[in-house]
Amino acid sequence: MIVVFSQGKAQTAGKHEVPKEGKKISSDLFGLFFEDINYAADGGLYAEMVQNRSFEYSPNDRREWHPYSFWEYITPGFSYGSVNVETNAPVHPNNPHYMVLNVEHTGDNGVGLKNAGFGGMVVKAGEQYNLSMYVRQLSDLPVTLSITLQSPKGNVLAESTFPTSTNEWHKYTSTLTATASHDTASLVIIAKTTGKLALDVISLFPEKTFKNRPNGLRADLAQTLADLKPKFIRFPGGCLVHGDGLGNMYRWKNTIGPIEQRVEQKNIWGYHQTLGLGYFEYFQFCEDIGAKPLPVLPAGVSCQNSGGTWAIGSTGQKGLPMDEMDAYIQEVLDLIEWANGPVTSQWGAKRAEAGHPAPFNLEYVGIGNEDKITPVFEERFKMIVDAVRAKHPEITVVGTVGPAPDGEDFVKGWKIADELKIPVIDEHYYCQPNWFIENNNRYDRYSRQSSKVYIGEYASWGNKLINAISEAAYMTSLERNGDIVIMASYAPLLAKKGYTQWNPDLIYFDNVSIYPTVNYYVQQMFSANDGDYYFSKVISEETKDSTLAGSCVQDSKTGDIVLKLVNAGNENKSMKINLSNFKHIVPDAELMVLSGHADAANSYEHPDQVVPVKSAFKVSRKMKYTTPPWSLSVIRIKTVK
Ligand code: AHR
Repeated sequence: MIVVFSQGKAQTAGKHEVPKEGKKISSDLFGLFFEDINYAADGGLYAEMVQNRSFEYSPNDRREWHPYSFWEYITPGFSYGSVNVETNAPVHPNNPHYMVLNVEHTGDNGVGLKNAGFGGMVVKAGEQYNLSMYVRQLSDLPVTLSITLQSPKGNVLAESTFPTSTNEWHKYTSTLTATASHDTASLVIIAKTTGKLALDVISLFPEKTFKNRPNGLRADLAQTLADLKPKFIRFPGGCLVHGDGLGNMYRWKNTIGPIEQRVEQKNIWGYHQTLGLGYFEYFQFCEDIGAKPLPVLPAGVSCQNSGGTWAIGSTGQKGLPMDEMDAYIQEVLDLIEWANGPVTSQWGAKRAEAGHPAPFNLEYVGIGNEDKITPVFEERFKMIVDAVRAKHPEITVVGTVGPAPDGEDFVKGWKIADELKIPVIDEHYYCQPNWFIENNNRYDRYSRQSSKVYIGEYASWGNKLINAISEAAYMTSLERNGDIVIMASYAPLLAKKGYTQWNPDLIYFDNVSIYPTVNYYVQQMFSANDGDYYFSKVISEETKDSTLAGSCVQDSKTGDIVLKLVNAGNENKSMKINLSNFKHIVPDAELMVLSGHADAANSYEHPDQVVPVKSAFKVSRKMKYTTPPWSLSVIRIKTVK
């Protein structure tokens, strides 16, 4: 038998009755910020195993890089021939470089190329790997190609062979089944017979990508993101949006269609973007994990730090020339058509061609990423916003107010937002843990009549429990202010070992392992335990204490009540809970606690050093709860109708 407490007046919301004291808050509050920084996409979430698959690496990416980078020319068994990167007859003009392999003498083993991916390829016995490559036979006779996955010592882990068949570019595909495992394998392509051939877009994916999507995502990393139960995903950044100079702005049209047609470019964080994880893959991932897409498009200006100008305290921001703005604005409008338009529309048809005839139900579009608020920015931002509003009044525009929680850009950005009545404004801040404690009342003071807030990037400087708990305390204030703070995303999200440009991050990974930080668990405990009604009087402190914070929300769909209690201090502290206003409470609840030493952190060696611990918990209508030092406790309480 379920024993329930029953008391209080109610309002009907969703499927369950919610006490009338509840304040409606955003149901999209906690989501993800995704940027290809720290090898988050290429070499990370994007499951492509070959590095520089299209021979498009260049000194523009990094001074020492070129089309041969990450490819080794191999002539085993006294063979000889030559390799040459050419551009005169590419697979597609967007992808100009390709490799020509000329085999003069095959020796014992032939002539070929080897690629070790992003620090070695992870191959697992029994699993399948999908190879695809464009080949053009340049000699009269067919050339036999041997494809193998090999350990560093040359042990063959998987193999396949095929002859070339045409003098036109042709896409060859083959599935390789691994008979042995290795974490630092290479792809080896050998021409076994004499002749000449051109090769391009040499791609290898594990068969098991997330949800088995072709051109898909690394399954374990994508699952780690899905486990956060994010309500939205921001993409593609970050500074990657506005780019290092105008030529490096992220142009969404360059990122869709067959991979050989995408326009690769340098990554502002000092490496290369294949754009293989482009807009389609992003929207598909959002749909796969039930998150809303939140694309952010450049506001027609480049990053103010372009060319490293931050170092001299000046602005490297450049604006698109005015005679290019009409076309640029059309590009923004086309994205909305691509996401939501019917298959009969020009851009909706391209979405359908990619395999998704149904609309993606885009609701939000961000314009600009923490840009310097200059007249150049303001003019272009206004033009874009006006056009989106005129053509798509159903879309909620998200504006930008600089890179800090205050200061000149913040003030100027908010002034523009007020003047233009921008519905949502994107605030960014990276601060010390104390800042998050001391500013817990930041949004209590915000006007309820102005723009709503999206905290698009925030983090306390570190991955220790002291950082995560200060974020947790702050996140209770976001729930409390969930009527005006409608979205928030920790940043950055992903960081690859040995390839990291920015610390701290939410999730660290290498090719084989992943460790979620303590900050990750805080995000997860909030986002998997959110609600759409907030109650201000349920949790209170015994005596006023700035190291304590709490919030109470209810999910009107399930009726579940969630209490979050945070202790950002060194001692046990008691907090009071009063559930008198709720009806039909089930006393057997669930408790989840994340706690430890202020300096505790997870690591590759100890990925589970600090993780939430679950236990059963009995609730009563009025009770006290003792919060351990440096802790976040989540109590999830069921109600019955
Ligand atoms: O999150 C890392 C960077 O911080 C983002 O690219 C940028 O928007 C911010 O300055």
